[in-house]
Amino acid sequence: AGEPAVLLLPGDGIGPEVVEAARRVLEAAAHAHGLRIRFDEVLIGGAAIDQAGDPLPEATLEKARRARAVLLGAVGGPAWDDLPVDRRPEKGLLRLRQALGLFANIRPLPGFVAAYGRSPLKPELLRGVDLVVVRELTGGLYYGPRARRALEEGGEEAYDTLLYRTHEIERVARVAFDLARTRRPVGQRRVASIDKANVLTSSQLWRETVRRVAADYPDVTLEHLYVDNAAMQLVRDPGRFDVLLTGNLFGDILSDEAAALAGSLGVLPSASLGGPVPLFEPVHGSAPDLAGRGVANPVGTILSAALLFRYALGHEAAAAMIERAVEQALADGARTADLAGEGEGALATEEMTAAILERLRV
Ligand code: NAD
Ligand code: IPM
Ligand code: MN
Repeated sequence: AGEPAVLLLPGDGIGPEVVEAARRVLEAAAHAHGLRIRFDEVLIGGAAIDQAGDPLPEATLEKARRARAVLLGAVGGPAWDDLPVDRRPEKGLLRLRQALGLFANIRPLPGFVAAYGRSPLKPELLRGVDLVVVRELTGGLYYGPRARRALEEGGEEAYDTLLYRTHEIERVARVAFDLARTRRPVGQRRVASIDKANVLTSSQLWRETVRRVAADYPDVTLEHLYVDNAAMQLVRDPGRFDVLLTGNLFGDILSDEAAALAGSLGVLPSASLGGPVPLFEPVHGSAPDLAGRGVANPVGTILSAALLFRYALGHEAAAAMIERAVEQALADGARTADLAGEGEGALATEEMTAAILERLRV
């Protein structure tokens, strides 16, 4: 009830620039539907380390818990690159995902983004591409036991652990199969589960568990792929994929690879679901090479705002309105530098945002 509260976590690098762009689009799309959103904004990542000595201050987490949804830019950058992993900006984001219980990360590559991108792939390979990566987000190699210590004989050792439990695999698999049911008609619904079951015992558990969940979804075709082959198929024949279901690390890597199908990391959005407060963020990072120049592509964050309407506010009309406006802007040739060809005029972040705002229509 009341005005939904959206917590903005701009973070570092280009984070503040793309979050401001998405905030304007959120506001405009809400307004067009007679809705008002209450925004609040707090620090996370390197900015929070500098101010509060912690990449996820307690006050930030508290505000996140009380919000309807969180919209994040990116964290990290060269200023904090020498810190140990447990104190880096990235750790703030990892702790936030875990604290909010966001085990399912949805990273769509919509057809309209693939089609208008500047992919290194031949255009004919991109025809019909419309896929989504469902990445397990609170387990696997990112969260297992780890240590680093000196060895008596000299040197050090360090390890990370890839650990999954049945229930962690089951719940994210259900998200993938449920999503497959919303995307295509019966007969064309596919989930590709991606693992390394020829080598890893955790992947064997993954594969068996996904197979068992699939039995509840006879209308969805399941295939299993080894991750090395999947990485290859993704550029050889991306049109064969619908939903890709995978663990935390493989999902991180494959979603950046999927972004190459669109020609830029700047256009991919994501939604992290599974807990009471969902989180929305672009797939890209803080792009230190672009920070502060006003040239970053805001589309990934703006499409994340569309996902916020869809998954946090249950407002499909506003979500679709934003997606149509982005599609139209791209179709009309609006391009930031990452997507502009040689000699094509590139738009600044604000100009690209304006091009999208102009095309928001009920
Ligand atoms: P990155 O995603 O920041 O950048 C990779 C490349 O993509 C760069 O060439 C960059 O210019 C380009 N790019 C990224 N976003 C863009 C945008 N919106 N518009 C145009 N071009 C864009 O990845 P990186 O360089 O490996 O990492 C930089 C920092 O970001 C690191 O500290 C890393 O840990 C962090 N990071 C954070 C997140 C996150 O907060 N979710 C995600 C990935 C990386
Ligand atoms: C992403 C990022 C993060 C991840 C980092 C910054 C912790 O690369 O969201 O894809 O690996 O999950
Ligand atoms: Mn990543």
